[in-house]
Amino acid sequence: MAAYKTLDQLEVAGKRVLVRVDLNVPMQDGKVTDATRIERLVPTIEALVKAGGRVVLLSHFGRPKGKPTPEASLRQLVAPLSAALGGRTVAFAEDCIGPAAEKVVADLRDGDVALLENLRFHPGEEINDPGFASALAKLGDFYVNDAFSAAHRAHASTEALAHLLPNAAGLLMQAELEALSAALEKPERPVAAIVGGSKVSTKLDLLNSLVSKVDLLIIGGAMANTMLLAQGVEVGKSLVERDMLETAQALFGAARKAGCTIVLPEDAVVAAKLAVGQDTTTVPIGQVPADQMILDAGPKTVATIVAKLEGAKTLVWNGPVGAFEFPPFDAGTNAIAREVARLVAARKLLAVAGGGDTVSAMSHAGVIDKLSYVSTAGGAFLEWLEGRELPGVKALTA
Ligand code: 3PG
Ligand code: MG
Repeated sequence: MAAYKTLDQLEVAGKRVLVRVDLNVPMQDGKVTDATRIERLVPTIEALVKAGGRVVLLSHFGRPKGKPTPEASLRQLVAPLSAALGGRTVAFAEDCIGPAAEKVVADLRDGDVALLENLRFHPGEEINDPGFASALAKLGDFYVNDAFSAAHRAHASTEALAHLLPNAAGLLMQAELEALSAALEKPERPVAAIVGGSKVSTKLDLLNSLVSKVDLLIIGGAMANTMLLAQGVEVGKSLVERDMLETAQALFGAARKAGCTIVLPEDAVVAAKLAVGQDTTTVPIGQVPADQMILDAGPKTVATIVAKLEGAKTLVWNGPVGAFEFPPFDAGTNAIAREVARLVAARKLLAVAGGGDTVSAMSHAGVIDKLSYVSTAGGAFLEWLEGRELPGVKALTA
């Protein structure tokens, strides 16, 4: 990986530091439902405050498509952010460029923190517009990117802006990159991957890339149904992608060539429909009744996965192995997560998880602080695993 500057290499005392953060957190009825992304930003902000910098936070929120909307206003993040910073005052600017932003930034004293309104209220953000990037650059002396989870987007605040000011990676960006390289760039072998989630189609690039990198590819969740059906195993009325069967067969072929073992479920917890509190049965794979659907990995599958992980040194995990949002179909994911945490605690396994709803699955399983690293990134984590260059990371190293 090319070198990027780190936070300690910037002399920020008395300077305005534009910090690209990712405050795109899940919210319901005006409340943040998972504050992990906010909490992970605290070390960078505190480090800059302590060094006497004037901290100006830039973020997107939602997908407002270039127009201001009250639902996508970052004003609602001021209080959660201030709480995460131990009650520190966070100033807010109604716009991220122009007079409103300039006034708030000019009023900052050393060690103060401000948040600017949603970058995506301007169409220039998503089209990586140089003019919009210049308007942002006027507000700062330095640029710090701490938004690994948005680094797969070549947007003005993640890409163009990095070229306009002296820049560095924030502490969270640095931690994410270090954890991901430890897991896949020069990993201790054998390397295992668990990929769950519902669709082969959305993770095809990922699966294809992983078969050439890992020794063991454990496939769970509904995407395993498609893989099973591709082998001629009937899966009742489980979710499957019939148009992906040939693709699934090709994946088996690619894995054989690359010497990667694909592990599929042996048994499954089934029910008539996906809902909380269903009557369930556990059946061997191949004996799923025609009117039932697979909703979680069964105990034999969990035991096999755990046994395989006992023999591995590195694990990359993306996606739950069951419909964990609907208990009791969280049991398989929870059990595997706890065993992974045990192996990590015993220093037998380096385990990195991330992408999509993996953070909520890990936090639901109570292991968010017990794996080697849980990434806050969704799409960026997946693109990194696919071996793609992330524009936001590349711009920092340029
Ligand atoms: C995310 O939540 O994945 C990032 O914040 C990026 O958001 P986006 O997918 O809307 O670009
Ligand atoms: Mg996304």
